[in-house]
Amino acid sequence: MMHYGLIGYPLGHSFSQKYFSDKFNKLGSSNTYELFELNNIEQFPALLTSAKLAGLNVTIPYKQSVIPFLSSMDKSAQLVGAVNVIKIEGANLIGHNTDYPAFRASLKKWLDNTNIKALVLGSGGASKAVIAALNDLKIQYKQVSRTTKDGCITYKELSNDLRWVRDYTLIINTTPVGMAPHTDTAPQIPYSRLTSSHYLYDLVYNPKETLFLKKGTNAGAKTKNGLEMLHTQAELAWDIWNA
Ligand SMILES: NC(=O)c1ccc[n+]([C@@H]2O[C@H](COP(=O)([O-])OP(=O)(O)OC[C@H]3O[C@@H](n4cnc5c(N)ncnc54)[C@H](OP(=O)(O)O)[C@@H]3O)[C@@H](O)[C@H]2O)c1
Repeated sequence: MMHYGLIGYPLGHSFSQKYFSDKFNKLGSSNTYELFELNNIEQFPALLTSAKLAGLNVTIPYKQSVIPFLSSMDKSAQLVGAVNVIKIEGANLIGHNTDYPAFRASLKKWLDNTNIKALVLGSGGASKAVIAALNDLKIQYKQVSRTTKDGCITYKELSNDLRWVRDYTLIINTTPVGMAPHTDTAPQIPYSRLTSSHYLYDLVYNPKETLFLKKGTNAGAKTKNGLEMLHTQAELAWDIWNA
């Protein structure tokens, strides 16, 4: 029997716990998957001594702050600079990032053609995984942030110069805007300029159709939510723990 779990804060309902518990049931395995809500990352070493874990998922807000506690990081985690999966072998803790390959696989499968330019909304952890994938797929991108930052444009600039939305037809929401319970909100982009040539990908998976995606569908754009990425990142975590 192996023990797995998720660290983060807060941890209300968890996709991962249900996903892995269902998987263990299907496999007839007595493995366990528990939620470990840590008030701060300094509680992490004590958890490791008490819980005898074989693997962990990591979620907000610890994807970066957990890094100093790890023995090493694989290439994906190094590239993204964030860890969402840890493989534990005795005292050896290896950090991985499965958000990045999960998004890359999902995007590649979805797009008819990667000869497209992308707008990446948001500049948090998820945006780094998305950007690593866009770089792999050689998709040119521009990042959009609420504040003026190196390499980013602001939402105001996006609305003031409509060439952005005309030319960058893949729009990826990596912000939590629109996530339940705030389902009546959407990132501030010029929706009236969207056309049937646009592709809108939302990393948010709850609700299945966010207002961002609904507005895209209304304009004839192709849309995709974050569910496939979510499932794929979990399956890749399972592969890592079993490798
Ligand atoms: N489908 C999946 O498998 C998957 C995987 C990972 C994450 N996600 C989802 O992706 C989302 C982002 O995750 P994250 O870890 O990157 O979160 P985060 O670090 O909390 O936020 C990402 C960025 O969103 C922008 N933002 C935050 N609040 C905003 C607001 N009120 N209005 C406009 N922009 C706002 C910020 O960028 P600026 O300050 O630059 O504006 C922030 O850095 C979450 O909903 C998460 O559930 C899904």
